[in-house]
Amino acid sequence: MYKVKCFECGSEVDDPFVDSCPKCGGLLTIEMDLDEASGLRPYDLRKRPLGVWRYAPFLPVDASKAVSLLEGGTPLYDCQNLRSRIGIKSVHVKYEGANPTGSFKDRGMTVGVTRAVELGCGTVGCASTGNTSASLSAYAAKAGRTCIVLLPSGKVAAGKLAQAMFYGAKVVMVDGNFDDALRVTRQLAREGVLYLLNSINPFRPEGQKTVAFEIVDQLDFEVPDRIILPVGNAGNISAVHKAFEEWKSLGWIDRIPKLTGIQAAGSAPLVKAFRAGSRGFIPEASPETVATAIRIGNPVSGRKALKAIYDTGGYATDVTDEQILDAQKMLGRMEGVGVEPASAASIAGLIKLVDEGVVAKDERVVCICTGNVLKDPDTVMRSCAEILKAKPTVEDVRRVIA
Ligand code: F0G
Repeated sequence: MYKVKCFECGSEVDDPFVDSCPKCGGLLTIEMDLDEASGLRPYDLRKRPLGVWRYAPFLPVDASKAVSLLEGGTPLYDCQNLRSRIGIKSVHVKYEGANPTGSFKDRGMTVGVTRAVELGCGTVGCASTGNTSASLSAYAAKAGRTCIVLLPSGKVAAGKLAQAMFYGAKVVMVDGNFDDALRVTRQLAREGVLYLLNSINPFRPEGQKTVAFEIVDQLDFEVPDRIILPVGNAGNISAVHKAFEEWKSLGWIDRIPKLTGIQAAGSAPLVKAFRAGSRGFIPEASPETVATAIRIGNPVSGRKALKAIYDTGGYATDVTDEQILDAQKMLGRMEGVGVEPASAASIAGLIKLVDEGVVAKDERVVCICTGNVLKDPDTVMRSCAEILKAKPTVEDVRRVIA
């Protein structure tokens, strides 16, 4: 059982098709009734395999009707090489690139599409910088629903675009950025053209909570000191915060990690707000970054994200494109973990914050790396050394590799 409520004014919202509070326009959130869960002990959950649906008592849909591709259950890598290089006690990477469509979005989408089916929606849709559309397209296919995705023209990485096309979505390139695409998609939803599955739909973050549950579960119910994650539209950091609050309210954990959000320097409205100590933010008109996944100027869940950061004693900072690409390569070449640029922002952020003394050397840090390196092959091709060319002889290959 659960209630949909306004995050700002707290009023209950009955209409399942609105994307904000009819009274004050605030963001929506779901208040879970944790009665069922309160009869459990954390280890009881382990009767189900690691993955999103292990945490069914914390999800607002019927698990027996889940539209699932077996999402979640991603590796938590103990990055010993990275740890020695950066000089801190413990660094783990939660590798969300191992999800069915290669990003963390699958966690929210399995819950979101299950909800769409529950409501009898024939057409689902979203605006996206790429990963949300790739994920929704796959889950809509599984559920036999029509899928419409609106993408910022020319700014979606090749792998993500290919996925949306491949799974059979109607792919619409909008002449504008993500914020423009989301504005139009929300209007289409209001007009009944599609059921909106961006993270402004409060069912999406419910699924995304499970990344936090898994991290704690994989650490055998030890809570890390800090979780660092990239922030774009700000749904994920808010979801992670909500997850920890729920487990804390049950007494399953005794504290919440410092949630630390990283934005790209050209798209950092929340970092600017954090520096000013503000709970609101000023949208960035022309966001720009190589990390196209987080090329967002007006993060829909920005206010929730700032609350998550302030309430947990966390932090926010930005990293340059160069720092992002360096961190991406470092993670690949020191740990064998391939992530897309936006995901590498969390590693770049960690390096920067250790240098600045914000992250202490004895902290146990988990970086969430949200998407797979294969999502954006073009950036890799541009940022890595040239390919060697040789004649088909041993001598010539020896010559070029020397
Ligand atoms: N990392 C990746 C790889 C993403 O695709 C996104 C968001 C984020 C981080 C940021 O997460 O928005 O919850 O703060 N991608 C969205 C999309 C916007 O359309 O795929 P967030």
